[in-house]
Amino acid sequence: MVILTQKLPIWLVLVFIYLFSTPTFSQNDFLNSTCETAANYTSTFEKNLNTTLSVLPNTNSGLGFFNYSTGQGIDTVNSIALCRGDVNGSECQSCLNDSIVKARQDCPNQMEATVYDKRCLLKYSNQTILGKYQPKPYHFVVEDDQFSSDKDRFNITVKPLLDDLIAKAAAGDSLLKFATGNKTGSDYTTIYGLVQCTPDIISRQCIDCLIDIIYQFSINFWSSRTVGGITLLPTCNFRFETYPFFYERPPPGMRCIILLGLYG
Ligand SMILES: *[C@@H]1O[C@H](CO)[C@@H](O)[C@H](O)[C@H]1NC(C)=O
Ligand SMILES: *[C@@H]1O[C@H](CO)[C@@H](O)[C@H](O)[C@H]1NC(C)=O
Ligand SMILES: *[C@@H]1O[C@H](CO)[C@@H](O)[C@H](O)[C@H]1NC(C)=O
Ligand SMILES: *[C@@H]1O[C@H](CO)[C@@H](O)[C@H](O)[C@H]1NC(C)=O
Ligand SMILES: *[C@@H]1O[C@H](CO)[C@@H](O)[C@H](O)[C@H]1NC(C)=O
Ligand SMILES: *[C@@H]1O[C@H](CO)[C@@H](O)[C@H](O)[C@H]1NC(C)=O
Ligand SMILES: *[C@@H]1O[C@H](CO)[C@@H](O)[C@H](O)[C@H]1NC(C)=O
Ligand SMILES: *[C@@H]1O[C@H](CO)[C@@H](O)[C@H](O)[C@H]1NC(C)=O
Ligand SMILES: *[C@@H]1O[C@H](CO)[C@@H](O)[C@H](O)[C@H]1NC(C)=O
Repeated sequence: MVILTQKLPIWLVLVFIYLFSTPTFSQNDFLNSTCETAANYTSTFEKNLNTTLSVLPNTNSGLGFFNYSTGQGIDTVNSIALCRGDVNGSECQSCLNDSIVKARQDCPNQMEATVYDKRCLLKYSNQTILGKYQPKPYHFVVEDDQFSSDKDRFNITVKPLLDDLIAKAAAGDSLLKFATGNKTGSDYTTIYGLVQCTPDIISRQCIDCLIDIIYQFSINFWSSRTVGGITLLPTCNFRFETYPFFYERPPPGMRCIILLGLYG
């Protein structure tokens, strides 16, 4: 690049740097995946899986939740997908597309796969998924390259923020159980938080799931001084950061209230 700058205009060099240094969205946002390794699937299961994964992205219930099942008996394939509550339709679709490819790569021949991305979750299994609270396995993601000077930040600022968001998310309906917020700590740093449950579970399961993952994170990382973190289960997840990482969009119900407020 240093040699190039002597011969090429600077804008062209910048274009080169941009093209070769910008990671793609999917690599950036992929978090982890889990596979069920008990047994390899049969050819009928594979056929059903292919059908399921090709139909699933077309089953949006309206606010980023998808479900589709194919087959009977031992060859049943159930699937769900959930986009983060603030992500729009096109970003949601592209995340699902990436996750389907990822699932096939990471879990070849497996009857169960869960793929976690910062923007969406995809799960398929021969077991029932809808309406079931799956309490394991946890995935923790911590930003370990940056640390806060405030050692009590998690207990004093982050946990109360997330606790406040639980009730808001759980009050959501069968289309969306999602909440975001922010809270400024004693060191004047603002923490941004997000919690979400799959909307097919009842309020009580959503509350139990979120209380549990916040507790699990707190016993493992309260003292790590991490400035950001994520905990994932197939049924619920949370994330917090010191910067706004979600889009500010009033939920559909709120928009009407704002309009009524303006015109009423
Ligand atoms: C995925 O999760 C497993 C188990 O929690 C962990 O050992 C592994 O490091 C994670 N991988 C990535 C890419 O974070
Ligand atoms: C599944 O298939 C792979 C190769 O296709 C093989 O290596 C593996 O042992 C099989 N696992 C089981 C549990 O049968
Ligand atoms: C299912 O899809 C995979 C990946 O797209 C493909 O490799 C495989 O041949 C398909 N299998 C069937 C039975 O259609
Ligand atoms: C959806 O969100 C992405 C990311 O913010 C943005 O680039 C895109 O323009 C949005 N699309 C629509 C249709 O609003
Ligand atoms: C997702 O994949 C489908 C089918 O492969 C394709 O038609 C669609 O354009 C893709 N959507 C996005 C947003 O990448
Ligand atoms: C799913 O597949 C596993 C492995 O073959 C099997 O043990 C289990 O009973 C299956 N579950 C259902 C609901 O069919
Ligand atoms: C922080 O939260 C308050 C409400 O508690 C809200 O009015 C404000 O817009 C939020 N700020 C950001 C940047 O999200
Ligand atoms: C699952 O999909 C069916 C249609 O295939 C729909 O009637 C049902 O409401 C969906 N369930 C949930 C919990 O979204
Ligand atoms: C923070 O919370 C954890 C888990 O509840 C607890 O073990 C720890 O003692 C608390 N730390 C402080 C400084 O209060």
